[in-house]
Amino acid sequence: MTDQQKVYPVRDDIAANAWIDREKYQAMYQQSVDDPEGFWAEQAKRIDWFKAPTKIKHTTFDPHNVDIRWFEDGTLNASVSCLDRHLEKRGDQTAIIWEGDDPTDSKHVSYRELHAKTCQLANALKELGVGKGDVVTLYMPMIPEAAVAMLACARIGAVHSVVFGGFSPDALAQRIIGADSKLVITADESVRGGKHVPLKDNVDAALTRKGTEVCENVLVVKRTGGEIEWKEGRDVWYHDLVDKQATDCPAEEMNAEDPLFILYTSGSTGAPKGLKHTTGGYLVYASLTHQYIFDYQDGEVYWCTADVGWVTGHSYIVYGPLANGATTLMFEGVPSYPSHGRMGEVVDKHNVAILYTAPTAIRALMAHGDGVMDSSKRDSLRLLGSVGEPINPEAWEWYHRVIGNSKCPIVDTWWQTETGGIMIAPLPGAMDLKPGSATLPFFGVQPALLDSEGNELQGAVDGNLVISDSWPGQARSIWGDHDRFIQTYFSTYKGYYFTGDGCRRDEDGYYWITGRVDDVLNVSGHRMGTAEIESSLVAHEAVAEAAVVGFPHDIKGQGIYIYVTLGDGVEPTDELKKELTQWVRKDIGPIASPDVIQWAPGLPKTRSGKIMRRILRKIAANETDGLGDTSTLADPSVVDDLIENRAIK
Ligand code: WT7
Repeated sequence: MTDQQKVYPVRDDIAANAWIDREKYQAMYQQSVDDPEGFWAEQAKRIDWFKAPTKIKHTTFDPHNVDIRWFEDGTLNASVSCLDRHLEKRGDQTAIIWEGDDPTDSKHVSYRELHAKTCQLANALKELGVGKGDVVTLYMPMIPEAAVAMLACARIGAVHSVVFGGFSPDALAQRIIGADSKLVITADESVRGGKHVPLKDNVDAALTRKGTEVCENVLVVKRTGGEIEWKEGRDVWYHDLVDKQATDCPAEEMNAEDPLFILYTSGSTGAPKGLKHTTGGYLVYASLTHQYIFDYQDGEVYWCTADVGWVTGHSYIVYGPLANGATTLMFEGVPSYPSHGRMGEVVDKHNVAILYTAPTAIRALMAHGDGVMDSSKRDSLRLLGSVGEPINPEAWEWYHRVIGNSKCPIVDTWWQTETGGIMIAPLPGAMDLKPGSATLPFFGVQPALLDSEGNELQGAVDGNLVISDSWPGQARSIWGDHDRFIQTYFSTYKGYYFTGDGCRRDEDGYYWITGRVDDVLNVSGHRMGTAEIESSLVAHEAVAEAAVVGFPHDIKGQGIYIYVTLGDGVEPTDELKKELTQWVRKDIGPIASPDVIQWAPGLPKTRSGKIMRRILRKIAANETDGLGDTSTLADPSVVDDLIENRAIK
């Protein structure tokens, strides 16, 4: 029996108490696709509305007129559902457990405290002149103030745009400019793995870039007390301004379709896109998926190890769990510090019941052997989750056996920044698990597999993964560029949302995501556009041309493999390789760090000048036997050179 045929049946102990069992899944799924209006009208009641919606669904994927609206006549405020409504019953319950980078550093923030802090910051934002519709950029460490900042924006109707703290000043500047953001909230430094990252310095550098003049103020949390520069009139200490504010603040009445946040993500072409998520549908979807997919039970400690800079942190550290009155753990550090046992130690320390992490983290631990988990027992764990990339069955089995002591179901959750919440994943009380498969669609999600001509394929088959109708968590647009939104997601296959992923469906109807079919890389669960890295490289004076592809990497899933053609007369040296590596790290951020650079006297191109990445991918993966048809190349001999001088032997 191969790994792919192995099945882990629903566990009796899980099914006995789960929110959703097999019958319920079938019935609810059927209703959700037969009668989406009725289904979602009912589900919308799970959050608090000022005015309950009567218009439920108004959506079209018609490429001439993509228009996505959910609950469009409802009004609400996301922070009310995440905070105010919990005060009466669970005001003293812990909302956020914060675990610092230093293992002796942790604290609990109750719902009452989180509400007060959010209101204080909301009042402070108003004092800074931020109001409804303004965009606030958050460039923050993983500290409770990050969640407070998101909720405070929501409270006053400002739109947050969180930029991952590992991005470079240039990447940050690009996002400040793209969103016309008038305020940046940051910290002096962040702390990860014992090292300090100069967030404020990075903001200072970003704000020297042309176009960032829109940004009027920088609000700075003191995290480490490290040395920073100060610009009078622009920079404001968070605690000076916030601590003196009143602890209540009326919540702005927002329309369901008013934007809640922008989140930038990489695509196959051009600069990163700011996906626009709106309020009502997003919150209903984040909270519903969080409750059912993680089978969250009242009082449990739930830990998602993502950073709030990614959509996973938005939906499954902040909005989903808090809307559900959960206790959500926020971890400042990295799984390998001070030792590789840290993740298990945090689970024991805080009695974590549900752990949601990424395959790359699991593979990194697995590489150290089973003993890496000896410093913890992890008896409190009940359920495990995986996200970010396909999980290889070997990592799945190790996660299940070693981290989960062979007693926790694993929910492999497929979704995207664009989808707002989980789309394909097992419900642990309803579905048998197959390691490596994200299993079946969530309520309201209608996946389909298409061939390259756009024909819908039936049965057990491989194809391009599309979604045939809207769901409430879906991104509504690209900030400031609706045409690009249509072009990117709705023009390849008419009438469908195109995910960019390839996928196989097996004989049980289970979905197996096979990875991106476009020029997007997935490096340690982070999305990287090849075009972004290429344009960074060609901006270096030594580089004439560059092509970037992914290649299989044991820990990262995919590594970054770069072919560089140097300018005339430039010497290909090891120093230059180092310099180019630093260049990209500085330009985009350490997550874009090249793994391999190969000098390429020429790149394989068609006669019309298009680089044939298919060939470059095969060479990088060392699959040079199956290069396929190279007869359309302008100069087939470049391929022989590239194979001969492959950078990894
Ligand atoms: C891409 C989206 C949304 C969470 C974090 C990533 C890949 C994500 C899985 C999974 C196979 C997965 C896809 C997708 N992906 N989760 N469980 N199995 N692939 O969000 O940065 O928007 O990336 O990540 O390729 O398209 P993202």
